[in-house]
Amino acid sequence: MKTFTTRRQLREYLSARGNATIGFVPTMGALHNGHLSLIAQAKQGNDITVCSIFVNPTQFNDPKDLEKYPRPIEADMAKLEHAGCDVLFNPEVSEMYDTHEQWHLDIGQLEHLLEGEFRPGHYQGVMQIVYKLLDIVKPTSLYMGQKDYQQFMVVSRMVELMNIPVKMVMCPIEREADGLAMSSRNIHLTNQDRQHSLVLYRTLKWVKNNFNSSEIASLQQQAMDKLTAEDGVEPEYFRIVDGKTLLPATENTPNIVALTAARVGKTRLIDNVLIKS
Ligand code: PAJ
Repeated sequence: MKTFTTRRQLREYLSARGNATIGFVPTMGALHNGHLSLIAQAKQGNDITVCSIFVNPTQFNDPKDLEKYPRPIEADMAKLEHAGCDVLFNPEVSEMYDTHEQWHLDIGQLEHLLEGEFRPGHYQGVMQIVYKLLDIVKPTSLYMGQKDYQQFMVVSRMVELMNIPVKMVMCPIEREADGLAMSSRNIHLTNQDRQHSLVLYRTLKWVKNNFNSSEIASLQQQAMDKLTAEDGVEPEYFRIVDGKTLLPATENTPNIVALTAARVGKTRLIDNVLIKS
């Protein structure tokens, strides 16, 4: 695997590959099987697979969260090698940002719903870094996880608005054997938290199994009650929404997804299931 830390070297290397198709997997590292499933899918569909590891400061609204974000770069590199990734881009913050840099792209409501309510500015930071990365890598296809469903929709909207020639590919959620969605933040869960965290997926599955489009409000409320009833779990939201706009689903909505976020102990977790697609 080739590793680059500067934009210029990476761009030069990729430009020299001519018409090769490029599959790109942007990450913040602390890689787990969820990330590696994206690498596998990128490898299957492209000549070259590029992964980036960059803990992006502009998307963190809590400085403590940024500080304690895990950064096991040696282990990550070994996992990428093993997965057959061709290129790793691992820049410093100063390589990606000027001081006092500004960014804003108006994507309407999508930014302010759900995660946006609890993490103001988060998606501006995500768009800012993904835009820069796309500009350097110029991939054929961009592989992102359903785990961060709203992020996928936000980046898709940016790609559309900025007319970026890349194909968006959504990859399914990889889970632990007991159902917990894999996440770099799971290492912060205590043993007790780990048990309590299972209520998220259990509740999402319960809603999927009991889904009835005329009872959306009541299902949402019952789901919130189930989450609240679990020790050590403080739900932020549980919503059943239109899979494209993320606005509340109605009886006639064709694509429906249920999304939730909760604090489990000191750790914030998100998860979702597709209800109708
Ligand atoms: P990160 O949280 O490292 O996630 C990188 C990619 O892995 C995202 O597309 C995410 O949806 C996907 N992913 C995470 N957990 C997954 C799981 N359990 N199953 C399948 N895919 C999973 O998302 C980010 O980084 C950043 O916001 C980024 C896009 C890199 C911009 O900084």
